[in-house]
Amino acid sequence: MTISIRFLPDDVTVNAEVGESLLDVADRAGVSIPTGCLMGSCHACTVELDDGEVIRACITPVPPGKDELTINLFSDPTW
Ligand code: FES
Repeated sequence: MTISIRFLPDDVTVNAEVGESLLDVADRAGVSIPTGCLMGSCHACTVELDDGEVIRACITPVPPGKDELTINLFSDPTW
């Protein structure tokens, strides 16, 4: 199953497979999510989903059950 994933604030959309690593998807989109440990413990890779859920990209695969997903990188300087 393919999901359309949109990265903000760059506003880049790519297709991804359910279960694929979000870091891989971001890489393919040309979007760089900062990373540190790649094990879920440093929170460097924290991003926000369109429903407000905050996730760590390095330990989060593309979730099933959606046609599209928006991922907001915290590059807003007011955050
Ligand atoms: S890279 Fe450390 S929590 Fe994801």
